[in-house]
Amino acid sequence: MGRKFFVGGNWKCNGTTEEVKKIVNKLNEGEVPSQDVVEVVISPPFVFLPLVKDLLRPNFHVAAQNCWVKKGGAFTGEVSAEMLSNLGVPWVILGHSERRQLLGESNEFVGDKVAYALSQGLKVIACVGETLEQREAGSTVDVVSAQTKAIAERVSSWADIVIAYEPVWAIGTGKVATPAQAQEVHSELRKWLSANTSPEVASTTRIIYGGSVTAANCKELAAKPDVDGFLVGGASLKPEFIDIIKSAEVKRSA
Ligand code: 13P
Repeated sequence: MGRKFFVGGNWKCNGTTEEVKKIVNKLNEGEVPSQDVVEVVISPPFVFLPLVKDLLRPNFHVAAQNCWVKKGGAFTGEVSAEMLSNLGVPWVILGHSERRQLLGESNEFVGDKVAYALSQGLKVIACVGETLEQREAGSTVDVVSAQTKAIAERVSSWADIVIAYEPVWAIGTGKVATPAQAQEVHSELRKWLSANTSPEVASTTRIIYGGSVTAANCKELAAKPDVDGFLVGGASLKPEFIDIIKSAEVKRSA
């Protein structure tokens, strides 16, 4: 099916210039599988994007953590998709739960952002995921389907979209989803894509998992057939991120 393993490092709102340089040095020294086996994307805060892009090894790429929903202009404090394209930033993370939850980004708003970012030539890591309350109420699949639907209704191609399934209860909590829990939701998302977009989109779109991924738990998760990689928060700031990138080998030997 040719879904290349994908590992994203979401640094969130962390780092100083000195820390950024140190982390990038570590990333540059790390021994990782070739670009044919794994695609690696690092997402520092906006202000460090040019620095990271300049210093980072050429086989890793950068992503912004957000962008504005439409063409730039009189929107104080926002960063537009045009600006990211202009800087040569290839990827953007959209719909992260920290923005959906804390800043009230709706499914529709996220869908609009994804469509606009794609129209400006960016590739998108689109995040979906349920809260603990929603999981306990048995509505996980409904929630992630509705989040995906709001994107599907607004885009004509999925070629430049990676879906990140990030259950809210697993983010930053140390409470990782079990491989079975991740596999179940990824497989449901793939079924949803098959029924509502096309079987081809379903079989080619990468669905990655995020939420308390570490060097210790990544291999077991990576072994699941519908887990195509990871979006890593806390551990992406640490040397163990290299080990998480290496978990791509699990797929190759599968
Ligand atoms: P943690 O890996 O820190 O749980 O964060 C996951 C995440 O939100 C990545 O986008």
